[in-house]
Amino acid sequence: MLKRPGAGPLAVLWGLLWLRLGVSEPPPRPPHLVLVLADDLGWNDVGWHRSQIRTPTLDALGGGGVRLERYYTQPLCTPSRSQLLTGRYQIHTGLQHQIIWPCQPSCVPLDEKLLPELLKEAGYVTHMVGKWHLGMYRKECLPTRRGFDTYFGYLLGSENYYSHERCVPIVSKNVTRCALDFRDGEEVATGFGNMYSVNVFTERAVDLIANHQTEKPLFLYLALQSVHDPLQVPEKYIEPYSFIHNENRRKYAGMVSIMDEAVGNVTTALKRHGLWDNTVFIFSTDNGGQTLAGGNNWPLRGRKWTLWEGGIRGVGFVASPLLKRKGVESHDLIHISDWLPTLVSLAGGCANGTKPLDGFDMWKTISEGKPSPRKELLHNIDPVFVDPSPCKDITKRTALQSNYFSWEDTIFNTSIHAAIRYGKWKLLTGNPGCSDWFPAPSLFNESNTLSSDPPTKKLWLFDVVNDVEERNDLSEQYPNIVKKLLSRLQHYYKNSVPVFYPDDDPRCDPAATGAWGPWM
Ligand SMILES: *[C@@H]1O[C@H](CO)[C@@H](O)[C@H](O)[C@H]1NC(C)=O
Ligand SMILES: *[C@@H]1O[C@H](CO)[C@@H](O)[C@H](O)[C@H]1NC(C)=O
Ligand SMILES: *[C@@H]1O[C@H](CO)[C@@H](O)[C@H](O)[C@H]1NC(C)=O
Ligand SMILES: *[C@@H]1O[C@H](CO)[C@@H](O)[C@H](O)[C@H]1NC(C)=O
Ligand SMILES: *[C@@H]1O[C@H](CO)[C@@H](O)[C@H](O)[C@H]1NC(C)=O
Repeated sequence: MLKRPGAGPLAVLWGLLWLRLGVSEPPPRPPHLVLVLADDLGWNDVGWHRSQIRTPTLDALGGGGVRLERYYTQPLCTPSRSQLLTGRYQIHTGLQHQIIWPCQPSCVPLDEKLLPELLKEAGYVTHMVGKWHLGMYRKECLPTRRGFDTYFGYLLGSENYYSHERCVPIVSKNVTRCALDFRDGEEVATGFGNMYSVNVFTERAVDLIANHQTEKPLFLYLALQSVHDPLQVPEKYIEPYSFIHNENRRKYAGMVSIMDEAVGNVTTALKRHGLWDNTVFIFSTDNGGQTLAGGNNWPLRGRKWTLWEGGIRGVGFVASPLLKRKGVESHDLIHISDWLPTLVSLAGGCANGTKPLDGFDMWKTISEGKPSPRKELLHNIDPVFVDPSPCKDITKRTALQSNYFSWEDTIFNTSIHAAIRYGKWKLLTGNPGCSDWFPAPSLFNESNTLSSDPPTKKLWLFDVVNDVEERNDLSEQYPNIVKKLLSRLQHYYKNSVPVFYPDDDPRCDPAATGAWGPWM
């Protein structure tokens, strides 16, 4: 061992040597990155939004970190997940419309480079546990072929939490097939029947953390099944909610509680195994709550599937000893597509090989409170939108709208389902989806919850910073803002790729193998 001299010319020499070797500033070790994605968790379903549902673990983690209170996702599963892993808007990947259904021969385009591939290039070990839902019709689409070293979970959505089976009608054959959708790597995973998925996934995540005995940094993407329907949860988690009379809401509350416990198990494991001090932990929902299945977004308008705030303004936070500020709320505009550039930059990597990104690196905004580089956010443009679960008042909206031409249509076809955000302004066109407000069942007061918009209405402008409930349409007062935002929509529309939404392929039938999986 060399001994460091105290003072004098030797010390100067030593200093030079020190600098030359670069030992005075060892490169910071890239942080472990752990991202937990909840499924369909609504705005009004977490403790810190004064919900009737208790989430002590999430409250404490977010409370000691940075709560993202103006954070946006997409209104649906596949869209949000695709933007998370590509950093790109759906208008650039062809996934603008709905989700990837089980028998559609579609997946996130294979020429898109995904987040785990970039992190792998930056030296990370990459694991995924849980819901994929980004397409699986051929092997090249699977998580293990798209950058994850390991994968354990399910490829579709809406399965049974215990049997891990998904039932799908195969229309061309006039049958409904129920088959297993559970994989470890690329192999069908049997032997997990009657085990609740959240416990199984949490146990796997904890094992991965415990076995992470390498100098390499860890990327763990834990995409939980909770709290999507079907509404299933062990009875003991429902018991504390006996005061909730609505049965869906009561079960849903129990599902949120077990998820809260699961997140606690993961962070405890990170601490126990010495990873936490160098971890950036992100929690996010994938979209707003589904009010038809126990979720709630009150006081936000709409729900999952809609471009109202209830569909897209998401629950999320970052917790990490590495944050420069803690215990604060961020009111910066942050979007799910921003995680890719943010995480790649934290990893010391580069977005080499991606197509042009729509996301921004938000680390300094989140960690230090620096102004957000994001001023604008395209929520979506879907020219073939249909609302699969419309509310009563607007079933005929789309048909009525397109017969009605206005000055705005000279800039952008306002019959198209679209929404864009710029600063405090949000413009919506076409049929945004179910337009009502849904108070949590305990607060129910129908007299102030139904939309009174006429069915021909197809354009709204809100100051969503001051009118979070989207009640006061300002489009007539601010025609210049309307014009500007319509021309931005038209710009995006012109530069979008066509919707890719192929017909079902009957060859997806799992009858021969007993499991859902690649068929081509
Ligand atoms: C589909 O199957 C059901 C019974 O499983 C039968 O009643 C019905 O006629 C069938 N429809 C067609 C179009 O074959
Ligand atoms: C969390 O860990 C405890 C202790 O190992 C376990 O009993 C519990 O089932 C775990 N919770 C979940 C949601 O997996
Ligand atoms: C960029 O990506 C290409 C292919 O994905 C790879 O061959 C090349 O080494 C990468 N360059 C850097 C600097 O990582
Ligand atoms: C405007 O968009 C609607 C909905 O996509 C479509 O039905 C209609 O044909 C479009 N109108 C024009 C003039 O392109
Ligand atoms: C329901 O809302 C209306 C209108 O805001 C209000 O006048 C009424 O008092 C409310 N009723 C209850 C039971 O909260």
